[in-house]
Amino acid sequence: ALEEDGEDKPKNRRFACQRITPLNHPNQKFTEALEFLEKAAELRMGDNSRSRALAFRKASAALKALPEEIKKPEDVENLYDIRGGAHCKGVILDILENGYSAEVEGIKRSDWYQNMSLFTGIYGCGISTSAKWCQMGLRSLDDVKGSYILNLTRSQLKGIEYYNDLNTPVTKEEAKWIHDAVSQEVAAIQPGSTVVMTGGFLRGKDMGHDVDFLISHPEEGKEKGILGTLLQALTKKGLLDYTDIQNSTVTKTTVQTGMDASRNTMDHYERCFSIFRLPKTAQSHRSDESSERTVAEDSAAMDVVPPASESSPSMDVTPANGTAIPGLSLLEKTNGSTTSPSEIVQKTEDSGRSWVARRVDFVIAPAGQYAFALLGWTGSKMFNRSMRDYTNKVMNMNLSSHGLFDKTNNCSLQAKTEEEIFELLKLDYKPPEERNC
Ligand code: GTP
Ligand code: MN
Ligand code: MN
Repeated sequence: ALEEDGEDKPKNRRFACQRITPLNHPNQKFTEALEFLEKAAELRMGDNSRSRALAFRKASAALKALPEEIKKPEDVENLYDIRGGAHCKGVILDILENGYSAEVEGIKRSDWYQNMSLFTGIYGCGISTSAKWCQMGLRSLDDVKGSYILNLTRSQLKGIEYYNDLNTPVTKEEAKWIHDAVSQEVAAIQPGSTVVMTGGFLRGKDMGHDVDFLISHPEEGKEKGILGTLLQALTKKGLLDYTDIQNSTVTKTTVQTGMDASRNTMDHYERCFSIFRLPKTAQSHRSDESSERTVAEDSAAMDVVPPASESSPSMDVTPANGTAIPGLSLLEKTNGSTTSPSEIVQKTEDSGRSWVARRVDFVIAPAGQYAFALLGWTGSKMFNRSMRDYTNKVMNMNLSSHGLFDKTNNCSLQAKTEEEIFELLKLDYKPPEERNC
């Protein structure tokens, strides 16, 4: 099957990483439905829900690379990742005939889906926890807060406290403000360091669920210690609310064998999942003149942030001892009825905070692995998955966020840039804007 690759039209290559996948394309209503079904399959947690989810995602990725709008079933008949999928074809046909997918609309209306998406919308609450809560009969955020037996994690408490903020997309302007603030600190800590905003924003999106930063230094070793100092500095300025630091677990074998290649998407870099306090002053008047802002204005904006002590969270207060959780009061209702997301919006707006909560990820990579880390953290997730799949099946190599390992010659291959990685893999280079599968 592989020899077909060369003959295929560029839009119908076997692997998504061989295709150009722009952010905007004419088949949004089809891909949205397929990706909704992907998510629903994941939420269902059945025996083969993972592979069902992946089939929907692959079908969606195939459509995203089409330059023309789909008009009839035959338009998708020969596409890799769709031609064998009766279910996907049925969804596409339904949308062609009726303008929408009845299956999607049905799931959206179901209590099961609404409950699961409410709970999985809580930062720190995954699919199995959400399913457990549903099974316990919990139906609202109030139910969760009111349950004394849950033993909520530190991240879940934050996820509930900032439910509305963290479910509001981050704008590009907000991301830029955070990038500036982070870059300034890093420059002071270790001059010559690089701070790149990766993830969806690097691929050209103008909204994101978080902001991702890859930090490095051209001199190998000088990146060490930056993350800890950075987090301290940002916390001191009142810009961080929550940090979940993961120490590096990089070993020689993970780098040299690209071991975690396709099975596990987690890499081994030192990283931090955090909640950033974005000053409200940084939100409104930033849409057009963000690049002209001076360092002095930056500091001024930061000064409006209250000192960390003002609403400093105390970690040992949990619902288990019956004490109110700091910050949760704004979600509470005296009559015990459920609080809808729109009510939460109102209360949050009344909270008197001078900042909004935003998710920020930091990852630190040493110079020698930088290109691989950049490729991995630029995404999309589907692009990475297809590139690793391709690397394995076509090149007999393992690709990870740490390196590239040639299984035929039993050696690891170095690369300084993303372009070099594509070249080693015999793939045409794709800039980040073309990796939106
Ligand atoms: P939005 O944040 O929703 O805009 O999309 P995004 O593409 O930025 O997704 P996300 O922030 O979840 O991840 C950014 C990129 O980092 C994606 O390509 C992920 O695959 C990648 N990523 C996230 N976590 C890890 C990880 O632990 N290891 C590796 N190697 N990559 C990761
Ligand atoms: Mn992201
Ligand atoms: Mn992220």
